[in-house]
Amino acid sequence: MAFNETFLEELRARNDITEVIGGYVNLKRAGRLYKGLCPFHGEKTPSFTVYPDTQSFYCFGCSAGGDVVSFIRKIENLDYVEAVKLLADRSGMVMPDSGYDDSMLKTRNRVYEMNKEAAHFYFSQLIDEKNRHALQYYFNRGYTFDTIKHFGLGYAPDSWDALKKYMNEKHYSNEELYKANLLRKSSKGTFYDNFRNRVITPIIDIRGRVVGFGGRVLDDSKPKYINTSDTLVYKKTNQLFAMNFAKNHAEKGFILCEGYMDVIALHQAGFENAIATCGTAITPEMARTVSKYTDTVILSQDADEAGRKAVNKSIEIFSQVGIKVRVLNIKGAKDPDEFIQKFGADRFKALIEGAETDTEYKLFLAKQKYDTDTSAGLADYVTEAAKILAEADNVKRDIYASKLAEETKVAKSAILSESRRFQKQNEKKKIKQTNRQVMSMQNDADKINPQKRQYKSAAIAEERIIAVLINHPDLIRTISANISEEDFVTVFNKHIFKALCEHINQGKSLNMSAFGEELTPEEHGVLAGLEARGRTLTNPKMECLESITTLKEEKLKLIKPDLENMSDEEFRNLFSNN
Ligand code: GTP
Ligand code: MN
Repeated sequence: MAFNETFLEELRARNDITEVIGGYVNLKRAGRLYKGLCPFHGEKTPSFTVYPDTQSFYCFGCSAGGDVVSFIRKIENLDYVEAVKLLADRSGMVMPDSGYDDSMLKTRNRVYEMNKEAAHFYFSQLIDEKNRHALQYYFNRGYTFDTIKHFGLGYAPDSWDALKKYMNEKHYSNEELYKANLLRKSSKGTFYDNFRNRVITPIIDIRGRVVGFGGRVLDDSKPKYINTSDTLVYKKTNQLFAMNFAKNHAEKGFILCEGYMDVIALHQAGFENAIATCGTAITPEMARTVSKYTDTVILSQDADEAGRKAVNKSIEIFSQVGIKVRVLNIKGAKDPDEFIQKFGADRFKALIEGAETDTEYKLFLAKQKYDTDTSAGLADYVTEAAKILAEADNVKRDIYASKLAEETKVAKSAILSESRRFQKQNEKKKIKQTNRQVMSMQNDADKINPQKRQYKSAAIAEERIIAVLINHPDLIRTISANISEEDFVTVFNKHIFKALCEHINQGKSLNMSAFGEELTPEEHGVLAGLEARGRTLTNPKMECLESITTLKEEKLKLIKPDLENMSDEEFRNLFSNN
């Protein structure tokens, strides 16, 4: 399936790559190109490059690359057709009716529809007079009716088939509902409602679609929550609750809570920058999403042991994408929801303003570990503190070193020099880590062309030829006079070379979009990498001819031709470069 070329051309023309990527990445102009921090891997210096002239992008750090469609595929986690659809919507274009396989898209849309319909049902049940105990539950928790409507809260009645019947009437089949995790299936194969006698919080994605639900019991029974398990439209390790609202209030950073109920209470109290994970720990994907909107997160974990552990892990994950973390020290309540109920919004605001920086929090935790009344304990504490300071920026390091010196009566200079020792260790570790990262990225690239490992010299020569051809299509006559696809050793490069030649010979424009769905986003990445490297060649023609010779020699080693039975011309051709 392919979209027709005119449609795609218009799509690309209307979705300028710099503009589209600019919506996700903070791009800075650098001559004819743009640079920014790569949204696909954690980095502190920009290696993500956008080329307006070829409408392509490439990251020299992680080898992600391609055109505007592959960018959207990757960043929004969509398939090809969905990405095209997003760009079409974005630029006010109408999708062609048919001619492409949109079955996946349709199935997903069906799940979105079902979820929306189910949310309506749950809401209507909440305000049904026979379920007044459910509404009472929310009112007892202090939620207003406006809040309930704002979040679309609901109630799943105490019934095995209330939702099932309602949805069947709307012509959704049990199998479909099962796939959306709205129904469950018994061992006998009968279907029944997943959520029963629970208050319901719809989980809404950043684009405003209902992707799942969290259902809480109204009393103390177990399990307290049932959440939608992963479906076609919902992956709990990617989803942040209330991002659809919070994304518009990111100036002060996000307040990250543990539970839906905390977020709802906070929004009602005026903290519309509150978000929560959906019952999981924070993941690198979530951190990346957050980093698109802000560089500050205020952690508001529950005040228990599990909460504290989560804090440390979260600090680590956020710092990998350059997000600064502050930690709320909630005292006298188990979570933000309870805190606001007990002490009010103003006290919570004060708490936020006084939130400890991550350094302060770590020092606090370190101190708890040691008995600082003994010399040994004190020494261990100072050593660990120096280690923590090694990770802080210079200003913070100086401030906290002073405080620490005062507190422990250890000379500030001693603390700082100890800290410097750890800094050096960290630097070494970081270099090792980067090397390892680069190696594993190299391996990823090799996965796309698995034969590269075995036929390294040949593959490198092939890549050079392709790199030249993408950047200098005018050299095609010289190149095809000297080499044909048959001479290529690795299957992947052969395929690319062949497709490139066809595109050029048909007079098609040769930008990164030329391949559309023929290539996966990863393959696009490899190609964009070759394109980017090809730009820097000083004498492309000569380098290309050299590579052709190399490739032919390599090929010769491999095929061990039957020299005796070759014609003279064939024999000469083996080595010729015209
Ligand atoms: P309240 O007790 O009503 O205030 O709930 P809460 O929102 O404060 O939840 P809690 O702090 O107990 O848990 C935080 C989050 O963890 C919840 O919002 C759920 O997403 C998840 N969670 C809690 N209990 C369960 C459970 O029994 N099963 C599952 N799957 N998730 C749970
Ligand atoms: Mn709670």
